[in-house]
Amino acid sequence: MRVVSGIQPTGNLHLGNYLGAIRNWVRMQDEVSSGGGQCLFFLADLHAISMPHVPAELAANTREMVAALVACGVDPDRSILFNQAQVPQHSELQWLLNGTARMGWLNRMTQWKDKAGKNREGASIALFTYPVLQAADVLLYQATHVPVGEDQKQHLELARDIAQKFNNDFASEQAPVFTLPDPIIPPEAARIMSLRDGSAKMSKSDPSDMSRINLTDDADTIMQKVKKAKTDPEPLPSDKAGLEGRPEAANLVGIYAVLSGMTVDAVLADFGGEGFGKFKPALGDLLVSKLAPINARFIELRQDRAALDAILHQGAAKARALAVPTLERTYEALGLVRG
Ligand code: TYM
Repeated sequence: MRVVSGIQPTGNLHLGNYLGAIRNWVRMQDEVSSGGGQCLFFLADLHAISMPHVPAELAANTREMVAALVACGVDPDRSILFNQAQVPQHSELQWLLNGTARMGWLNRMTQWKDKAGKNREGASIALFTYPVLQAADVLLYQATHVPVGEDQKQHLELARDIAQKFNNDFASEQAPVFTLPDPIIPPEAARIMSLRDGSAKMSKSDPSDMSRINLTDDADTIMQKVKKAKTDPEPLPSDKAGLEGRPEAANLVGIYAVLSGMTVDAVLADFGGEGFGKFKPALGDLLVSKLAPINARFIELRQDRAALDAILHQGAAKARALAVPTLERTYEALGLVRG
């Protein structure tokens, strides 16, 4: 088993990232390292330059994200933790895969459509070819499993299409160059929604900080955000079917269920018939109790910049070593002479 996944260091880690992806990274790290497999987790800093950014902030956010991931339980001794910028094989493989990826495939990507919006002519080429770099990220390491939230599913399907076409075009059936990766999407919490709008996903790029719970938020801020979260005037229903058509209520109950390890129906058996005046403080308390230890550890780790840089440096050296054989086979398959 080879587990590979990434996160953009473009801001704070939020509850959507944590419940949708990072919790699964940690779970898989524990499973995989006892079974002889390998986990690679990286900061997608090369992806972050596809949108306008402030260089000093990207550098600071990259280090902060390392601290946040370690605080969540990613263990740099058991998993390989690094940033793309220190492993040039990612960019190299992307260029080689650009010959296989099709314009039509990229044109269909919903993230491209959402982020470019009406201003396609003004969007960066990096934003358009972003999914090809993402394919390179996983194919470079022969990833078998890629733990992500629901919003990354389409990008992973594209990675499979690129791998399949490359194998068909340039390799024999007996010796394919790339492994087709499987996305691992949690059945619950695959899509945590904004606290201000039940139809939008919780996201770093939402201009309102009130829309998300950051893993760096203190207890007062968390309670405040939960209290102000958008809801409807009805009391909570007593079963899951009653959440139909109530996206904000469904999101809050879903968060409670995942954090407490209960089913949605079990949560509603406790809170059905109650108003949000009772449910929100309970949810706030639960969030604070789960996030406070992560927050405390994050605050401690982020102070030691040298230690964070050392983690990335060592992780990158291990990642480069694993990346080289696949990259060389790719050059060779394409007929590119390497001396
Ligand atoms: P990013 O940085 O937007 O998010 C990191 C991870 O968090 C998940 N996620 C969510 N899950 C549930 N609910 C939400 N509201 C929510 N918001 C984010 C994402 O699905 C993701 O798993 N393109 C990727 C980074 C990337 C990558 C890769 C991932 C680059 N290369 C290779 C996997 C494999 C991204 O921008 O994720």
